[in-house]
Amino acid sequence: MKIDSIDHLNTATAQRVGVSFLHESADLHVSGTATYTDDLPELQGTAHIALGLSEKAHARLLEVDLDAVRHAPGVIAVLTVADIPAANNCGPILHDDPILADSVVHYVGQPIFAVIAKSHDQARRAARLGKISYEELPAILTPQEAKAANAGVLPLMSLKQGDARKALESAPHRLQGTFQCNGQEQFYLEGQISYAVPKEYGAVHIWCSTQHPSEMQQLVAHCLGVGAHKVHVECRRMGGGFGGKESQSALYACVASVAAVKLQRPIKLRLDRDDDFMITGKRHGFYYEYDIGYDDEGRLLGARLDMTANSGFSADLSGPVATRAICHFDNAYYLSDVDMSALCGRTNTQSNTAFRGFGGPQGALVMEVALDTIARRLGKDPLDVRRINFYGKEDRNVTPYDQTVVDNIIHELVAELEESSEYRQRREHIRQFNASSPVLKKGLALTPVKFGISFNVPAFNQAGALVHVYRDGTVLVNHGGTEMGQGLNTKVAQVVAHELGLNLEHIRVTATDTTKVANTSATAASTGTDLNGKAAQDAAYQIRQRLTTVAAQLFSVEESNVKFERGQVQIGDQTMPFFQLVEHAYQARVQLWSDGFYATPGLHWDSKVMKGNPFYYFSYGAAVAEVLIDTLTGESRLLRADVLHDVGKSINPALDIGQVEGAFIQGMGWLTTEELVWNAQGKLTTHAPSTYKIPAISDCPIDFRVNLFDGHNAMDSIHRSKAVGEPPLLLPFCVFNAIRDAVASVGNYQIEPELNAPATAEAVMRAVAAIRKAK
Ligand code: MTE
Ligand code: MOS
Repeated sequence: MKIDSIDHLNTATAQRVGVSFLHESADLHVSGTATYTDDLPELQGTAHIALGLSEKAHARLLEVDLDAVRHAPGVIAVLTVADIPAANNCGPILHDDPILADSVVHYVGQPIFAVIAKSHDQARRAARLGKISYEELPAILTPQEAKAANAGVLPLMSLKQGDARKALESAPHRLQGTFQCNGQEQFYLEGQISYAVPKEYGAVHIWCSTQHPSEMQQLVAHCLGVGAHKVHVECRRMGGGFGGKESQSALYACVASVAAVKLQRPIKLRLDRDDDFMITGKRHGFYYEYDIGYDDEGRLLGARLDMTANSGFSADLSGPVATRAICHFDNAYYLSDVDMSALCGRTNTQSNTAFRGFGGPQGALVMEVALDTIARRLGKDPLDVRRINFYGKEDRNVTPYDQTVVDNIIHELVAELEESSEYRQRREHIRQFNASSPVLKKGLALTPVKFGISFNVPAFNQAGALVHVYRDGTVLVNHGGTEMGQGLNTKVAQVVAHELGLNLEHIRVTATDTTKVANTSATAASTGTDLNGKAAQDAAYQIRQRLTTVAAQLFSVEESNVKFERGQVQIGDQTMPFFQLVEHAYQARVQLWSDGFYATPGLHWDSKVMKGNPFYYFSYGAAVAEVLIDTLTGESRLLRADVLHDVGKSINPALDIGQVEGAFIQGMGWLTTEELVWNAQGKLTTHAPSTYKIPAISDCPIDFRVNLFDGHNAMDSIHRSKAVGEPPLLLPFCVFNAIRDAVASVGNYQIEPELNAPATAEAVMRAVAAIRKAK
């Protein structure tokens, strides 16, 4: 499926779903007029916060001398842990995340105190004047060290299926090894920010850039020691979240709220980029030890996998991240006998958190790397090895966590991509190219994706919405999801427009607001449209039903003869504008607003044994990458990428393709140029765009062919669409494997490259050198 044109608000077609409407804020985004939290007009008396950070990775605080801070120009107040009225915790699950450090610091960058000054600059200058003396404690800095020390932020997790030991012992071949992938900074363009305004009786109103307003509400209430009803959190949009504002927006919301309530004035806490890097958690880096048994065809017979995540100093979302990693090691492949474990390694670094894919990428990456290695060892094309391991349709279709895969489309999707990308022919061309090119080498790879959709915690899979129809026929929609650029509000508006037969210009989706829809889940796990789209549909449907009854009575026709389309209502052979019917309903005292609710059916999960039915359905996809490497410099370039991705029946193809493209490039950045480097003292040395390299437009492939697979969702999802936010982040595994393929060509595919992720230029050069030496 391709996008023909991007429709404008007044579309000529009557369809409201399955159409490429512009993102509801597209014109605001591109003209710089979209309002982010920092753009809100500041109230008189607004003061600004900067945080004073730990300079040690692990230390006892001996003395915190803040005199110079207090006397710096513009400073209004300085807060420490003693100023937090109730709980000093902003952890989403466990209570191990101090808001401000209390006697011990756990990483370089941990906030110790907060300075409130008249201006942002004055606060930042003053924050540097703290004199802190430390008694240093031993620090753990890598997942390997955490594993050796058996240090976890949570108990070891494990999942067993069949008899892995026996399967491995009897396998004709075994691949045993280690692998490692680095973390990744979310690099949202809008940094963390909260603006808190005190209200009567100890209440507070916070504008916060967050994926999880309800959790911000709860954590602020806990730290202030007030009820949740006194905390009002609002978020119109984020300038990107990518998981980094799911739990990690809490510290700023809490500090700003404590200051606002204590000083009784509006307080803004906006991190600058370096502080944001230094304080906030990132994608978890993983270290793996694996043992995989296979036969002469490359069929997987058994696997043991021990993963250690670099969790950082506290649990944060490491539990669910590691769970998803374990549930995605299989990726698209049937595994009969497996024994997996995941240690959430406690390290003295930032507390790592959600990042697009939420551990799924880390789980599946090691499998995809191993399959390429197995194929090279057997002298087979990796696609052939992949294919014989794909989940079956009738048998070989139960995952290691006991969920049966009932919606498998990977066979036909990969077959289509293999054909359209001319995979086989290009494989041949590349062999020929490499044979005659001593310095520049090409590589090719095709990797598939199967990604489970739903939160692993069944309770999170619920959503609410509120739809108001006003007397002029315009509609206001509010739901529990947050807009971070992904287009959720556009899709929800389309769903409501479809339900009421209206144009999009008549629908307005307003800021996420804890006073409108209560107890919402994070906008995460790609479930935003699935959950909130269904809830909004439920609300709109109820209003349509009431209007239908009014219309049928008005003209004495059967309710089945009332139709809503293009802003008009057809009632038998009469037509009336929507707003006129609304006015009739108002006069008849019929309720013109409704709430809506949705809970995903059929989910259950036993976290102790890691078995159940955690996902409502799976999203699939596959991609082919062709890369060129320079064996003298290690530089690599993605020449061409072909993507075929499954979004079920798309609600908005343009938005979906945008998500696929964005996720692909973001995932490619993780696996190629983005490198987090902590020095021997545990200080992150890559904390700005100058040292941390995210992909630029020039890194995008010139030949980028992204298509949506023509399909639908086997499950009853919103208009049979599928979640799209995270799954395509796994597509660029093919870029990483294509680089490995190019490196392997140096040793005529006989020597396995020693290449972990990210495949930076330095890493590629080292891997090439190792092969040249071994030859
Ligand atoms: N797209 C944009 N433009 N900005 C973002 O921050 N976050 C991603 C994805 N796409 C993100 C994005 C992540 S991590 C998730 S979980 C989903 O969007 C969340 O939104 P959804 O559930 O509505 O897809
Ligand atoms: Mo996305 S990592 O689930 O916010």
